[in-house]
Order: sequence, then C-alpha cells, then structure tokens
Amino acid sequence: MNNQDKVKKLIDLRVEAKLGGGEKRIEAQHAKGKLTARERIALLLDEGSFEEYDMFVTHRCDNFGMEKTKFMGDGVVTGQGTIDGRLVYVYAQDFTVFGGSLSETYALKICKVMDMAMKMGAPIIGINDSGGARIQEGITALAGYAEIFERNIMASGVIPQISAIFGPCAGGAVYSPALTDFIIMSKNTSYMFVTGPKVVKTVTNEIVTDEQLGGASVHGSKSGVTHFVAEDEEEGILLIRKMLSYMPQNNLEDAPLVHCSDPINRREDSLNEIIPDNPNKPYDVKDVIHAIVDQNEFLEVHLNYAQNIVVGFARFNGISVGIVANQPNYLAGVLDINASRKAARFVRFCDAFNIPIVTLVDVPGFLPGTGQEYGGIIMHGAKLLFAFGEATVPKVTVILRKAYGGAYCVMSSKHLRSDINYSWPTGEIAVMGPKGAIEVLRSKKIAEIADEAERAAYLQKAEEDYKEKFANPYKAAEYGYIDDIIEPGNTRFRIIRALQALATKKDVMPAKKHSNIPL
Ligand code: HXC
Repeated sequence: MNNQDKVKKLIDLRVEAKLGGGEKRIEAQHAKGKLTARERIALLLDEGSFEEYDMFVTHRCDNFGMEKTKFMGDGVVTGQGTIDGRLVYVYAQDFTVFGGSLSETYALKICKVMDMAMKMGAPIIGINDSGGARIQEGITALAGYAEIFERNIMASGVIPQISAIFGPCAGGAVYSPALTDFIIMSKNTSYMFVTGPKVVKTVTNEIVTDEQLGGASVHGSKSGVTHFVAEDEEEGILLIRKMLSYMPQNNLEDAPLVHCSDPINRREDSLNEIIPDNPNKPYDVKDVIHAIVDQNEFLEVHLNYAQNIVVGFARFNGISVGIVANQPNYLAGVLDINASRKAARFVRFCDAFNIPIVTLVDVPGFLPGTGQEYGGIIMHGAKLLFAFGEATVPKVTVILRKAYGGAYCVMSSKHLRSDINYSWPTGEIAVMGPKGAIEVLRSKKIAEIADEAERAAYLQKAEEDYKEKFANPYKAAEYGYIDDIIEPGNTRFRIIRALQALATKKDVMPAKKHSNIPL
C-alpha cells in the first residue's frame, strides 16, 4: 500500500466510522424522532470545535459470535469541543450500534473523557440513549458502569456534570445520570427506570407503559429525577448550552461575568404593590424574580416539581446567581419534603461552584400532617437547613412577607451565616401566624367567652395586637437579624450592591473529612 493509499484508507475508515451502525439504523433512529449521536454533538458544540477520540476502538467480546460483528467507535462517540468558546468534554451514546449498549471498551472511552475533563477542569456532558449493559459481554459491562459511577462521584463538586436523556436509560444505567448535577429529558422519546414495565408486571402486577413509568413528564413532575423537560432534543441541547453559561468551568473558578446593559438602579415600582393586603392572598413570586434580575431572564430548574419553591439561575449586573424563592402561588409557599429536597440540592450545587445565592422568603412554615411526618419531613427539612447553613458563597436574603417559625430559620436567615438580610416593609417575622399564635396563647380565655360575637371581637383584637407586635420586620431589625428594611421597588439595586460588596467574601469551614448531611 503506497502512502496515498494509506491516506485514502484513513479517509474511508473515518467515513465508515461516522456511519455508526449504518444507514438503515440511522434511518430507524430518525423515524423515531431522534437524532444520531453525531448530530447531537454537532448541535451541542460550537461549530467545527469537536475533536473526536477513540473513533477506531472496537469491542473485544467473542461470546455469541460477537467477534464477527464490530463497529468502529463501538457505540459511543466521545471527545472535546467548546460551548461559547469554553472547553467541554462530551460523550454521546450511539443507539445505532448494538442499541447503544455499553461494553468494556465503550466504558473505557467514557472514562477517558471523564478523566480528561477532571484534569483540564472542564464540564462533562453525557448524552444517553442506550439499551444498558451489553448483554453479550456480561460482567465486563457491569464493571464498566461501576468505573463510570466512581468517576461521577469523584467529579461531583469539582466539575459541572450534565446528563441528557434522549432515549432509553434503564437498569443500573440510570445511576450515572443520577450522580450528575443536572438531568434533561426529551418529551416522548426518553425514559428512565430501574426496572422496566415487564418486570414491574411480574413483581407487582401493575400494568404501565414506558412513558407512564419513567417518561419525561413523570420525572419532571412526580419524582423530580429530571431537572428539565425539553419539548425535543434541539430544545434540550440549547438548554445545556444556556445552563453552562451560568456555571464556572470548575470549583476553583467563578462563573463568567457577562456584560450587562440592564441599569443596576432600574426601579420596579410595581413591586411596591405586589403584596396583597390580605395576608392569605397569593401572588406569583416569579413576577418578583423576573422584575429584579438582568433583562428579566430566569432559567428555572425543576419547573413542574415541588412548585411551592422556585429555584433557578439568573444574573444581577452580569453576576451569575442561584435564586431560591418560596412560591405563595402554590400551596401557599409551604415547605414540604419535596420542596426541601429540591432546594437543598440546588443550594449545594451553587455552593460547590461558587455561585452566590439570593433567597426570597415568603413562607408560612412547614406543611403539617401525618403524610409529611411519616415521610420524614424532619430529616428532609433538615437538608435545606443544612445546605443553607453550610454554604460559604455570598448569601443575600430578602424577606418579602411571611417568615414564620422554623421556616424563618431555614430560609437563609442571618443565623445560618447569611451575609446580607433585607426585609420588605411587608415582612412578618414571627414564631407563627397570628391565628395559630392566639389559639395557643389564649385558648382558655377564648373558651370562657360564651357569646359568639364577643368571642369574634376578642379574637380580632388579639390578632391585631399580635400583628402589631410581631407580624412586622421592625422587631427583627431591632435585633439586627435583618440588616435593613428596603423599599420593594428598589430591590434590584440593593441586591446588586450587596453582591458587589460580597464579591471578595471568604468564609471557611472547620477541618473535617466531610459533613454528614441528613440524607
Ligand atoms: C446488546 C442490545 C441491547 C443490550 C438492545 N440491543 N439492547 N444488544 N445488549 N442491552 C440491540 C438489539 O438486540 C437490537 O439489535 C438493537 O440493539 C436495537 O434494539 P431493538 O430492541 O431493536 O430496539 P427497540 O425496539 O427500540 O428497543 C430498545 C430497548 C430494547 C427497549 C432498549 O432493545 C431492550 O429492551 N433492550 C434490553 C434492555 C435491557 O434489559 N438492558 C439491560 C438492562 S440491565 P439488532 O441487531 O437486532 O438491531 C443493565 C445493567 C446495568 O443495563 C448495571 C449497571 C450497574
């Protein structure tokens, strides 16, 4: 073979490798409304930035006649590229090759890019579309999964890890995405479950479809396994690019500072009127968020899960922040098990990656009842308390209305090392709401009043007295538990000034191997 032939051979091999499992299987993939691994990578990365590794890797299995069927790349496309000019590592499972199933060599390819991402301090993005462990390989495939899991664990809190699920993801394979920071699922074409419908039917007699058991809407609203649900793969991929813009490359860097054309002193006078006079009337806290952040842009995480708390990314004068806000519009903004878990994980992500946290508080307390107590609200609520108390990033809190009981303490209060705590004049900081407090404090007296009208008048007066004394922010301000009472319309400016001052914040944790968060 002369040298020209050698070059031609390389070019031909590359063309062949790029076809994965072949044109027929690519057509089948498209017919299911799915893109191929290479099409997904092309959409994800900056144009022309992809450098592929291990295109010529094949499997080493000779069980079941496998030695006769080999595809270059072995079912996963791996490499590096850039997103908005910043380095990322990526792997995309190729369903056209053995159903994207994972072999020993396939796992080695993924491990290689994960190791590179760690060495270079760059995010890793995994696109999942696979039938799971390659059945013909047996134990080496299982070992391959475990090698990936271990790397996910080591990378946790060091580099951002993002998983897209654009096809099947079943059995133990679900645990790699579960160990990463954020999961995105595409509607109708993806599912995740530990055991599929057939096993479910055998064991529990339940009859469910893939979609009912582990589709994107189920995990986006019921289980909270996925953080984002995308209409289609294109939307999901754009979301990954957007999400990364709020994050640093690794835990030793800050998120990129973005040029901001939105004036820092932009007033939002509508906020002076957003809190209804009736304390039991809701409003949408997302209106507050949109009004105060740069260009009204807010990337909400877990949109349809535990909607009584809102979390997501935004910017203040170009500074990337994580926002945590109680949502009075949903279950009155109460803290329950799911809301506590959702917000705790988000707070810990922000803290791990040096993203300041802005907390907006309007919380009537923890949700009462046997459902919550039996489910362990004590332990799950403690997760959020722990996450806020442990976080050393800049923390700015604004109490909008209610901050009652334990929930006052939990929601990034001054006592949990929050740096700057403000309240709107509508803030009500107390052990509990007026009604409950009067019932506890005056129950004997109330019982003694036989006349109904007289009792109602007594209750009203007692509640008013209580409100006057406790349901306002001035008592907390007297003690310095809040640093200032601010005009709602000026909230954006006050938060930006706070964040600017906190830019050089240094806070430390006592020496320890790791904490023991109540899991
Ligand atoms: C080897 C596999 C495979 C696998 C699919 N294929 N899954 N080959 N190992 N795990 C092959 C099929 O034989 C087929 O090959 C091709 O991929 C496409 O699969 P189809 O079944 O034709 O596609 P579809 O109808 O879309 O169904 C996709 C599927 C189904 C739902 C994923 O293939 C399936 O149920 N596969 C098995 C899933 C599974 O039980 N995996 C093990 C999970 S346990 P041909 O040549 O015919 O085109 C696990 C343990 C991990 O993963 C443990 C980690 C700790």
